[in-house]
Amino acid sequence: MLFSLRAEDPSVRKWTPRRRDRFDFKHENQNRLLFFRGQKVGTVDLPRRALVTGITGQDGSYLAELLLSKGYQVHGLVRRSSLSSQSRLSHLCHQTREERLKLHYGDLADGSGLTNLVLDIEPDEIYNLAAQSHVRTSFDKPVYTVDIDALGVLRMLEATRQLSKHRPVRFYQASSSEMFGNSKEALQNESTPFRPRSPYACAKVYGFHQTVNYREAYGLFACNGILFNHESPRRGETFVTRKITRAVGKIREGLQKTVLLGNLDSRRDWGFAGDYVDAMWRMLQQEIPEDFVVATGTTHSVRDFLELAFHRVGLNWQDYVEHDPRFLRPTEIDVLQGDATHARQKLGWTPGTSFEQLAVMMVDADWKLARDEKFLASAPRFGTQKMENDF
Ligand code: NAP
Ligand code: GDD
Repeated sequence: MLFSLRAEDPSVRKWTPRRRDRFDFKHENQNRLLFFRGQKVGTVDLPRRALVTGITGQDGSYLAELLLSKGYQVHGLVRRSSLSSQSRLSHLCHQTREERLKLHYGDLADGSGLTNLVLDIEPDEIYNLAAQSHVRTSFDKPVYTVDIDALGVLRMLEATRQLSKHRPVRFYQASSSEMFGNSKEALQNESTPFRPRSPYACAKVYGFHQTVNYREAYGLFACNGILFNHESPRRGETFVTRKITRAVGKIREGLQKTVLLGNLDSRRDWGFAGDYVDAMWRMLQQEIPEDFVVATGTTHSVRDFLELAFHRVGLNWQDYVEHDPRFLRPTEIDVLQGDATHARQKLGWTPGTSFEQLAVMMVDADWKLARDEKFLASAPRFGTQKMENDF
C-alpha cells in the first residue's frame, strides 16, 4: 500500500490505491487532497516528507536513519561525482524500500536547481546540513567556503520561502559553535556574542543571521541549531578525533607507524553525532521557531582524547604522535564549552553519550576496520598488476 486514505466519497471508502493507479495531490492548508481522474476522492495521510541536504555526510546519515525510523519519507540532496559518495547511507539503501528514501542530484551552489527541487518535493521539513565543513580547509578555500556555507544557506532559504507561499514548511540550519570563536564567556549559550575566527565561522555567522532574518521578515518557521563538535565512527577522517582513532587502529595492527598532529592544547565540547540529530528533529517539532545550543557542557583537550584512545588499545600516545605545523591554523579557538540548558528545558534533550564512551566507540570501530583492512591486504589479489611507479 502506498498510503492510507480517509475517503469522503463512500464509493471509494474501500479502495486501496495501487502503484499503477494515477492520482494527483493538491495541498490545502495542512491537508493533502487526493484527486483520481479529475475527481476529488478524499484526504490522504501521507508520511511526512523531509529534505536533507548533506545527507551523505556524518550528520545526514544519522538524521536519515532517525527520520526513517519515525516513518518519514526522506529526500536527500547528493552532489554528482564520478564515484559514489553514499558509503554512509548504503545500509539504509539496502534496508529501506525505495518509496521511503529518495536521493536527488543537487548542489548548494545552484540556486535555481535548489528551488526547483524544493518546489517539486514539497517537503514538510528541510534540514540544511550541507557545507564545506572543515575549518582548516576554509583558510585555503575561503571563497568557495563562503559560497557554499553562507550563500548556499541563502539559496536554501529562498527556495524554502517560495514553497512557504503555497504550503507550510519548516527549516533547520546547521549552525556551529565555531561562530563563538574565542569567547569571553566560559560557557556559551544562545545569547553569547559571536567572534568568528575562520572563513568557515564567518560564513556560518552569515547563514545564522539570514535564518533569523527569514523568520522575522517572512514568518518562516526557521531554526538554527548551534551545535558543538559531535563525532562518531562515521566522522570524516581529517577531523581530529577520527584522524586519531583511525591512526590508533592502524598503529595497533602494524599498518601505520606514527600520526602527525597540530595543536594538542585546544579544548572542545565533544558529543556523539547520533544524539545530536535527535535535537535537530526536536527543534522542528516546536510550536514556535527558536535557536538552540546543543552541547554536552563538558570540555576536553585533544591531548585528553589521545590519552583515552591509545589507552584503549594498550598503547602510550607519546610514543606515536609527532607535531606537524601544517595542521596548525592561522587563527585558532582555544576552548569551547556549551550550555545547552535551553535545549534541555524546551526540547527535553540531553546528551546520551559521554566523552569516554565516545572515544571507546570510535576506537573500537576503527580497530575493527584496521583488522579488516589487514586481512584484505594479506589476501591474494587477482587481476591487478602492481604499477612500476606506484609509491
Ligand atoms: P560532513 O560530514 O562534512 O558532511 C557535509 C555534507 O555536505 C556532505 O554530505 C557533503 O557532500 C555535503 N556538501 C558539501 N558541499 C556541498 C555542496 N556544494 N552542495 C551540496 N552538498 C554539499 O559534515 P557533518 O559533520 O555531517 O556536519 C553537518 C553540518 O553541520 C555542516 O553544515 C557542518 O558545518 C555543521 N556542523 C557540524 C558540526 C560537527 O561537529 N560535526 C558541528 C556544528 C555544525 P559530499 O559527501 O559529496 O562531500
Ligand atoms: N583536523 C585536525 N587535524 N585538527 C587538529 C589536528 C589535526 O591534525 N591537530 C590538532 N587539531 C585541533 C584543531 O586545531 C582544533 O583545535 C581541534 O583539533 C578540532 O579540530 P577539528 O576536529 O578539525 O574540528 P573543529 O573544531 O575545527 O571543527 C569542527 O567542529 C565545528 C563545531 O565547533 C567541524 O565539525 C566544524 O564543521 C564544526 O562547525
